[in-house]
Amino acid sequence: MNNTIDKKRVFSGIQPSGQLTIANYLGALKNFVQLQKAGTECVYCVVDLHAITVWQEPNELRNAIRHAAACFIASGINVEKSILFNQSLVSAHAELAWIFNCVARMGWLNRMTQFKEKAGSNRENSSVGLFAYPTLMASDILLYHATHVPVGDDQKQHLELTRDIAIKFNNDFGVEFFPVIEPIIEGNATRIMSLRDGTKKMSKSDRSDLSRINLTDDKDLIAKKIRKAKTDQYPLPGSSEELENRPEAKNLVNIYSALAETPTETVLNQFEGKMFSDFKPRLAELAVEKISPITSEANKLMSDGVELDKILENGAERARKIADPIIRKTYEIVGLKTKS
Ligand code: AMP
Ligand code: TRP
Repeated sequence: MNNTIDKKRVFSGIQPSGQLTIANYLGALKNFVQLQKAGTECVYCVVDLHAITVWQEPNELRNAIRHAAACFIASGINVEKSILFNQSLVSAHAELAWIFNCVARMGWLNRMTQFKEKAGSNRENSSVGLFAYPTLMASDILLYHATHVPVGDDQKQHLELTRDIAIKFNNDFGVEFFPVIEPIIEGNATRIMSLRDGTKKMSKSDRSDLSRINLTDDKDLIAKKIRKAKTDQYPLPGSSEELENRPEAKNLVNIYSALAETPTETVLNQFEGKMFSDFKPRLAELAVEKISPITSEANKLMSDGVELDKILENGAERARKIADPIIRKTYEIVGLKTKS
């Protein structure tokens, strides 16, 4: 048994494609910070190799990598305590992904709903990388023998695949080398929905900018987007069961509750009987209070790109120290030659 398997280690990543949103903050970054505060060893990654599974303009990508890193730090990631780096600086991610491409089965990847959604009707014309996306994700995690992975609800299936890959690798080679990871999908912000359509996930890539709050939006824009958010004409109910068939109302209440760090029921007790014309200004106030400091801190960090690059390079160096022996051992298990 490899001794690192017994140790708790967190890994997670965010793609630098477009602007990070309030959903990335509430569904991911906020939990990353909590795990760091709890004293767990955390490895956080700006997954730029994942971003290029769909076309990215190179200069925008360079900027988005820095901005994603700035958002991690502005949200509270301490780069001394946690490891923060971008994926392409550690080449072992791509090396292990290749090995996992040879372990994972076509049938497994064919079932991935994210691929089906992203490829849509244009499947034949999607990149091979978009199809193989989940094997790279498995390699991100398993390259560090991470045990726990905090993500939003949309990544659940990919984490199940990561477990399957670890189990199959271990079986195929008769080893107990890769850990079977535990997803951490907790809280009331695991699935934040679009502000324009409560049945659709809030996403960086949605065509409508009004559908999301970006971590670059200023106070006025945040307030405007909440004012324009789709709702219904009914007052807020007293219990969360009564929100079940009201997706837009439920989403706004969830966002409030996640920002305020109070249970949904407490929010409903406070606003029961109120119309959205009363609730929205309060939500906007809260969103501005919580998000604006992050936005302005991230902007400040962006003014020194050289420093951000240095932080990422330092993080990558620490990441390589963990990853190198694991990729070397993997090569050895598979029967490949490694550099000495
Ligand atoms: P991505 O933007 O796809 O790189 O996602 C980065 C992290 O944010 C992952 O852990 C996602 O599960 C999480 N995330 C993305 N969109 C949402 C959403 N609408 N609600 C909650 N979490 C999300
Ligand atoms: N696929 C994740 C997303 O789109 C991002 C990601 C890449 C990730 N590698 C990861 C998340 C490893 C957790 C662990 O949200």
